[in-house]
Amino acid sequence: MAAIHNVAVLVGSLRKDSINRKVANTLIEVAPKSLKLGIVEIAHLPIYNQDDDSTPPQAWVDLRQDIKAADAVLFVTPEHNRSVPAALKNALDIASRPYGQNVWNGKPGAVVSASPGAIGGFGANHHLRQSLVFLNVPVMQQPEAYLGGADKLFDASGKMTNDGTRQFLTKFAEAFADWIATIVKS
Ligand code: FNR
Repeated sequence: MAAIHNVAVLVGSLRKDSINRKVANTLIEVAPKSLKLGIVEIAHLPIYNQDDDSTPPQAWVDLRQDIKAADAVLFVTPEHNRSVPAALKNALDIASRPYGQNVWNGKPGAVVSASPGAIGGFGANHHLRQSLVFLNVPVMQQPEAYLGGADKLFDASGKMTNDGTRQFLTKFAEAFADWIATIVKS
């Protein structure tokens, strides 16, 4: 039987009706059985401050533990001013420190960006990849996932109604499962 891999899912939007959270929920729904996806919340995290490294807030400790415990990480994010939303960057920073204790290190990753705009958060997707290079997260290269016009993909209950995008996300999740299996030695 194929190994089960735990995936920490980080959603870059904090708002209740977030398109990206709906995309993350769709990925949870369509992912293959070999992946166990769970959203790690980031809204409550105090802003990272190096002065607090010796007495970290419990929320930082918990985030670091959640990432450490995961086999892989999946980012689903909007674009804020052509870059990564501050809340998501904060989570990246918190779990990268104290110096020498980067818990992202070596975790296979994947990035999905979604926007009502036509280019699907391309800028955020690639700024995020820039940080992930430094954090030593081997990020799946293909398929890339930039979901444009993403406000039109869901019904009022938050269910994805666009079959083409659902199929694409199913293939994306399958490719990610393969990618994780090549990186994680089980
Ligand atoms: C945005 N939005 C946006 N969209 C985009 O495609 N490129 C961008 O650079 C920005 N910049 C931006 C900055 C800020 C501060 C906000 C609040 C929004 C619009 C954004 O894509 C839209 O609000 C999405 O609905 C955000 O995703 P969620 O929250 O629905 O997941």
